[in-house]
Amino acid sequence: MLDLDAALFASYLTTVTGRVACLAGSDVTHIVDLGAGTGTGTFALLEQFPAARVTAVDSSAEMLDRLTEAARARGLGDRVSVLEADAGAGLPGITDADLVWASASLHHLDDPAAALAGIHTALRPGGLLAVAELDGMPRFLPADAVPDRPGLETRCRDALDTLHTEHVPHLGADWGALLTVAGLTVEQERTEQLELRSPLPEGAGRYAHLTLGGIRGTLDGRIDPADLAALDALLDGGPQDVRHRDDLVVRSTRQLWVARRPGR
Ligand SMILES: C[S@@+](CC[C@H](N)C(=O)[O-])C[C@H]1O[C@@H](n2cnc3c(N)ncnc32)[C@H](O)[C@@H]1O
Repeated sequence: MLDLDAALFASYLTTVTGRVACLAGSDVTHIVDLGAGTGTGTFALLEQFPAARVTAVDSSAEMLDRLTEAARARGLGDRVSVLEADAGAGLPGITDADLVWASASLHHLDDPAAALAGIHTALRPGGLLAVAELDGMPRFLPADAVPDRPGLETRCRDALDTLHTEHVPHLGADWGALLTVAGLTVEQERTEQLELRSPLPEGAGRYAHLTLGGIRGTLDGRIDPADLAALDALLDGGPQDVRHRDDLVVRSTRQLWVARRPGR
């Protein structure tokens, strides 16, 4: 899913990491990818910063194994090291980072303020933190996609938002304010609406299927059974299945904050 997202929105990832590279300047040698997952950010950053190495931090050993394997396969094994750690409790042993990249990861942490204090310590004076976030699940369907259940996707998103308020309370946080409180100076803040339309790139239908399948599982028992049945019809391989519809539009809202540790 993470790799598919990065492939579909590859030009956005290149643009965003390029913006970060412009602000970071040329003397970046050590980057930390916080909550690195499969390494989508790690690999995009290694392209932008040819002289840098990346420490990929994640609390999941499985993710780090995948990332290590992917780095080896790309011939980048000597530029990537991994650190299995809970980033909410600081970044052990790191005090010299020129850049910390945190994409879709900070909202997972129990105490983002404590995590930002740890990032502040890990950055050298003058170093940058880039926070990339999204506003929740991407959207795929026109409002009338399922004629007898108009507004299906909107209702699913509303139900997910309610769940997230309880279980992922930092999703949608005002990161600019939190970065400032952590003693970092926000230099850039942007929101972008991404949209992929027909002809859709390879993998878009599968991405919609994976995303809506996850939503269906999460909302089982939490929304009207008729909405669940309509979701099933979008996933079951039949005529309405999102993997072969021609009316899909992939929409996603992405945000970026770039902040600097004062000094030097
Ligand atoms: C949505 S994924 C984002 C992965 C990657 N940054 C990307 O943009 O493709 C979130 C990642 O954060 C990791 N994560 C969650 N909580 C964490 C924690 N407390 N410390 C370190 N990593 C964590 C997860 O294991 C997962 O790999």
